[in-house]
Amino acid sequence: MIYLGKKVMSIAIVGDGVRCFKCGRQAAVRVRYARMNLCRDHFAEYVEMRVARVAERHNMFDGIRKLIIALSGGKDSTSLAHIIMRHRDAFRIKEIYGLHLDLGIDGFSEESSHVVRKVCRELNLKCFVLPLRDLIGYSLPELIRISRRPPCSLCGMLKRYLINVVSVELDADAVALGHHMDDLLVFALKDFLVQGNFRMIKLSPVTLGIKGVMAAKLRILHETCEDDIILYANIRGIEYVRSPCPYKYVDNFKAVIREMLDKLEASSPGFKISLMRRLIKVADVKAEGEVIRCKYCGMPSSSGTCSFCKFTERSLGKPLGYDVRSRVRDLIRSLS
Ligand code: FES
Ligand code: ZN
Ligand code: ZN
Repeated sequence: MIYLGKKVMSIAIVGDGVRCFKCGRQAAVRVRYARMNLCRDHFAEYVEMRVARVAERHNMFDGIRKLIIALSGGKDSTSLAHIIMRHRDAFRIKEIYGLHLDLGIDGFSEESSHVVRKVCRELNLKCFVLPLRDLIGYSLPELIRISRRPPCSLCGMLKRYLINVVSVELDADAVALGHHMDDLLVFALKDFLVQGNFRMIKLSPVTLGIKGVMAAKLRILHETCEDDIILYANIRGIEYVRSPCPYKYVDNFKAVIREMLDKLEASSPGFKISLMRRLIKVADVKAEGEVIRCKYCGMPSSSGTCSFCKFTERSLGKPLGYDVRSRVRDLIRSLS
């Protein structure tokens, strides 16, 4: 039985008697955007092959010897870890690490850390689980209470900063992120419609790194839709956290964009993939301009003080970037 969990637009369950395009056995799904019926095994292989091709097309792994996979414990990042490990030899990556930030959210964070450790163990992947409280002295819920900042924006800022710190301290060449095509498109279109912002750097398959300052960011799933990931994770039996983060909220604007994109995909299969390709061509997705180092911690900033040091100075009375960097260094050493 195939669990899809929600209404599906890019793939459809097929009836008895429909044959797999690859092996001629009973097909399980029709991949609408590829106009192909596939059995379960060939669907999973198809997803893996598409991801590998996208990585090749954008030369994502050229010169990457040390890679970090950012793992939240959700279906996207755990599926990404499985796909990368399957292609590890072809991609010629020497060292791969899993990285998870334990945010200290009651119940949810314990489950997420547990899943990440389990997935990493199964994949024989060295795993760094960093508890936020050990690094800053506070959990995410405590920081939300102190600062009164919206949870998701605070969480995003902390994750971006800490992932970057780990990548620099570990001297990693790149960080693989689990963002899939649906989220990237919605994010980019909202940014354009609301802010008039057409830089769309986060849409780029690769954000270049700067040695010693920030690792490259690889969005390897940027042409893979969410439906494919859900089905892939189910077919491969990949464990992931199914309960949503308790701070998750519905952004109505994004929900409408998402619905519109789904409708367009349903009437013209393949629409999202070609939209993604067109946007990347026309948008300015080059790396950020000149990077100024934070005067407190040396990490990248736009104004001389990074967002993390600004936040900790304002909310906790002291810019903590420098201390956090040395704590991360110690934690990495003790876990290595
Ligand atoms: Fe970041 Fe929920 S995981 S706010
Ligand atoms: Zn087949
Ligand atoms: Zn700083």
